[in-house]
Amino acid sequence: MKVTVVGAGAVGASCAEYIAIKNFASEVVIVDIKENFAEGKAMDLMQTASLNGFDTKITGSTNDYSKTANSDVAVITSGIPRKPGMTREELIGINAGIVKSVSENLIKHSPNVILIVVSNPMDTMTYLAHKATGLPKHRIIGMGGALDSARFKYRLSEALGAPASDVDGMVIGGHSDTGMIPLTRLATRNSVLTSEFLSAEKLDEVAKATMVGGATLTGMLGTSAWYAPGAAVSAMVQAIACDTKKIFPCSTLLEGEYGLQDLCIGVPVVLGKNGIESIVEIQLNEAEKTKLTASAAAVQKTNGLLTH
Ligand code: 2OP
Repeated sequence: MKVTVVGAGAVGASCAEYIAIKNFASEVVIVDIKENFAEGKAMDLMQTASLNGFDTKITGSTNDYSKTANSDVAVITSGIPRKPGMTREELIGINAGIVKSVSENLIKHSPNVILIVVSNPMDTMTYLAHKATGLPKHRIIGMGGALDSARFKYRLSEALGAPASDVDGMVIGGHSDTGMIPLTRLATRNSVLTSEFLSAEKLDEVAKATMVGGATLTGMLGTSAWYAPGAAVSAMVQAIACDTKKIFPCSTLLEGEYGLQDLCIGVPVVLGKNGIESIVEIQLNEAEKTKLTASAAAVQKTNGLLTH
């Protein structure tokens, strides 16, 4: 399994590290435009191989996409991260051009690649990748819901006083401070609904904290988070590499599913060797449907800003 990670910044490097440590990929190539930056990150990571016990071969490349040839999966993290007070949508002006050219370069050398888009505004960048590459919809996946769901489980575990490994919950909708939808109604603590343990007010508090999870960290760190985003996308790569058929909420092109058309937005999908094996249409209640429709309208508004 060969994986390319475009962008040797904090998210890309964390993703590469987690993939290596999980030891399911034979090769990870990190690409960046900054001279020797990807090569340096790759060498630093390779110097942990004997300590972290992995055999994955990590190499770096300064913008030479021939090194990415025949990748099975490519993760796009390149572009600028947001600063405190910014929305993800404000990054579109710079990141759209980057994601378009990166996508085109990747498929030139790896025509069978599965693309995972991380760059923000992620739902719109995922949609742009479709327009730029024409790849089949099952091979373009946006990473947002996996991260937001991990933050949801963190907040739930805090509220419950339970280990995050005992908590399950999913976030669907747009990967934005206002558009994501933590499904508190369905969240569980070891198969017991969390509503058995937490009041409606507390669950609402958990949902609100989840929605601004990224902005909260950006305010604390001065830039976007990287550990959880890197871990989330590495978990998706692993599901594809190992054909696990695990369900993740991912941004995917909808063509009528959930009553939505012609946009990419976070819904539950089964991930496997083909990328998106299937879209899972769960029964939403009226309030959740209303939120998803509003979230989709906001994503489509951002899509309308695309000039590429
Ligand atoms: C986040 O929420 C980078 O969008 C990503 O941290």
